[in-house]
Amino acid sequence: MRKPFIAGNWKMNKTPSEARELVNKLKEITGNRTDVDMAVCPNDVSLQGVVEELASTNIKVGAQNMHWKESGAYTGETAPGMLADLGIEYIIIGHSERRQIFNETDQDVNRKVKSALQYDLKPIICVGESLAEREAGKTKETVTFQVKAALAGVRSEDIEKVTIAYEPIWAIGTGESASAEQAADTINKIRKIIAELAPGKESEVRIQYGGSVKPHNIEEFMSKPDIDGALVGGASLEAESFAGVIENA
Ligand code: G3P
Repeated sequence: MRKPFIAGNWKMNKTPSEARELVNKLKEITGNRTDVDMAVCPNDVSLQGVVEELASTNIKVGAQNMHWKESGAYTGETAPGMLADLGIEYIIIGHSERRQIFNETDQDVNRKVKSALQYDLKPIICVGESLAEREAGKTKETVTFQVKAALAGVRSEDIEKVTIAYEPIWAIGTGESASAEQAADTINKIRKIIAELAPGKESEVRIQYGGSVKPHNIEEFMSKPDIDGALVGGASLEAESFAGVIENA
């Protein structure tokens, strides 16, 4: 049985003090839940504070990006070992904003996934089609390519440490989520790809939906057996709404 997993991607929002304030409220409301895995993913400068505030709770901390190299002359980048040393558990890799705005390629995503696993960071790999790709009937083709590329060379025993977040780009931050049927259909395809890559692991890998998830629509997504949770953007920026998503999951 896969445990539901709700993660909040704060993107480039919240100062370190605001971050501490948010998680302090959040832990009061939902910090002790054990039936759902919960994580928040603040910006790098807030990670330490958030780790400290959440230390004795069940809410884990993730980062939003990292470099694949161990160390070196990569100005402005964060190495996986730095995150692991802070007690970070999850790492979002290949978010569509990184792919689109910062030109991250499928090869970069694959390098980051393999590097994260070496440092015991659990990757949340984002995949998803653009509106043009959906309209051209290329959703499954796009997502298949992204998943295969991201997991190329990943050992079968490591695949279960990975979460896939299916985030159709047209549903991100638009208030227009995919329907639960659309999400489940693509997520079912992703599960089949996992089965091809690592037979048997398809029942263990968690696959989230992301894109305009709110407290009022999470239940619908969670009613689909293949959908294991959500990667939440806007609604994770307030303790009440993020806790609402967790509550209704
Ligand atoms: O990674 C989460 C995200 O891209 C979805 O954002 O604001 O549509 O929930 P949002």
